[in-house]
Amino acid sequence: MIATYPAAPDIDVLTSTFPIPGFGFVPVNAFVLHGSEPVLVDTGAMVDHADFMTALRSVIDPVDLRWIWLTHTDFDHIGSLHQLLEENPRIRVITTFLGVGIMSLTAPLPMDRVFLVNPGQDITVGDRTLTAVKPPVFDNPSTTGFYDQKSGTFFSSDCFGALLQEVPQNAADLSDDDLRQGQVTWATLDSPWLHKVDAGAFAKELDGIRAMEPTMVLSSHLPAAAGAMTDRLLASLAASPTAHPFTGPDQAALEQMLAQMTGP
Ligand SMILES: [Fe+2]
Ligand SMILES: [Fe+2]
Repeated sequence: MIATYPAAPDIDVLTSTFPIPGFGFVPVNAFVLHGSEPVLVDTGAMVDHADFMTALRSVIDPVDLRWIWLTHTDFDHIGSLHQLLEENPRIRVITTFLGVGIMSLTAPLPMDRVFLVNPGQDITVGDRTLTAVKPPVFDNPSTTGFYDQKSGTFFSSDCFGALLQEVPQNAADLSDDDLRQGQVTWATLDSPWLHKVDAGAFAKELDGIRAMEPTMVLSSHLPAAAGAMTDRLLASLAASPTAHPFTGPDQAALEQMLAQMTGP
């Protein structure tokens, strides 16, 4: 089930909630930026494909979309990508060279329908200028978020995601503990390389986001967060490299879980 809610007058969130057994829930978000050239940011999870299209049609007619900003090529971001390309021949996909390369291994993107950006580059989409940004934390090398100069929103892709016990529509409704712990768990699970980073270099990356002073942070895996929360979001990331590394359940734990589910 995919729900929608406005994060700003001209930005809609499409969100579903995925359970991670034993750990909680992770929201999976896509976003619609309304304007003279509407942009869809990511296209939902492959497993949710049909529901995603229904939810999308409730906030915009897909024939009106002009752009898809594909933050990266993971399965929770490309669910309806090809259906949208087929339904609307005007859509172009903003991605990276690496994004095109990864997609070519499963469902190639037509080269005349991509628009390649690198971090730091701007693209003008109607009444908006979007600046590509490499987020400080990511799980796929093709990842490119962006800063929307019109709304001041930072679209951070998987960065700032959180594993939560309940998923509100507004990150401000999470307690300090739930937000911090949820973010740290997600960061250590999704980006285990964080434990190997140089602390000074990582702090500089976080400072870059602080200096951006976003009015809002829209992560693929966190409820909408007002800009006033940016320092808290960054503090959770700063704590992640030295947090306990994530270790998934092993076979013995899996068998225990299955026994609990099926009973004696
Ligand atoms: Fe990802
Ligand atoms: Fe993701």
